[in-house]
Amino acid sequence: MKVLLVAGGWSSEREVSLSGAAQIEKALLALGHKVVPFDLSHDFPGFVAAAQACDFAFLNLHGAPGEDGLPQALLDTAGVPYQGSGPAGSFLALNKAASKQLFRQAGLATPRSAFLPTPPGDGFVPDFGPPWFVKPTSGGSSVSMTLVRDPADLPEALARAFASGDTALVEEGLAGPELTCAVLGDEALPPILIRPKAGEFFDYASKYELDAAEEICPAPVPDTLVAELGRISLAAHKALGLSGYSRADFIHTESGPMLLEVNTLPGMTRTSLLPKSAQAAGLSFPDLIARLMELGLA
Ligand code: DAL
Ligand code: MG
Repeated sequence: MKVLLVAGGWSSEREVSLSGAAQIEKALLALGHKVVPFDLSHDFPGFVAAAQACDFAFLNLHGAPGEDGLPQALLDTAGVPYQGSGPAGSFLALNKAASKQLFRQAGLATPRSAFLPTPPGDGFVPDFGPPWFVKPTSGGSSVSMTLVRDPADLPEALARAFASGDTALVEEGLAGPELTCAVLGDEALPPILIRPKAGEFFDYASKYELDAAEEICPAPVPDTLVAELGRISLAAHKALGLSGYSRADFIHTESGPMLLEVNTLPGMTRTSLLPKSAQAAGLSFPDLIARLMELGLA
């Protein structure tokens, strides 16, 4: 097949996207496909024309544009198949304020949060206590996210979040190990336990520097918790109307797993989590790419 490999774009996760695309290109070639690399720019008619000259578009964009549903909508109008979720589900998942509402509606526990549609005035404090995670509403890879312990540091953290997005979220900073659980097709993959080796949370450096975090897969947790993570991940995937695959991120607190967010185009770099989880389920990286294409074509 002739595959348009769409990566790059102009989000804060551009480098993550390009790094993953290099792995995907190798896998597509190993699977016998012809690869047409495409760096998404504002030339949307150019994107549609390039996609229409191919049989399939493999999207490896993170943040917006890419995970927001825009390229998916353009591909739908062009009649070109792609892997993963459609425009509506992608948009809902990338917008953490919207997705947290849908998690709550589906009875899935998620940390308390305050959504800020515009920068708040001086003196703003959420109606729950610190520590807080302050983040752009539709970002990824922890870019522009700050852990705030002292309320005096909140204005600076908000300024950082608003500098990289139009809206922001202040979320309860719960303590506990991070876990992630992916969905592939209609099944949950083995979860991963994450232990950053430095720093206070799984930040950008611990996500992408080799050996900067311990990522144990399958997670060494009781079977009941594995089942619970799988159940919640599948329920979240359904609540947001997603297709093909997704990866749900959690903090495991004393009262159980708390769902943070769902990623519709999970990272595919050498240090990324979904490929590790697929490997633990017996799928090599090329097997994973083949399965994602199969699901996208179904
Ligand atoms: N946002 C990054 C790419 C991830 O979730 O893997
Ligand atoms: Mg994310």
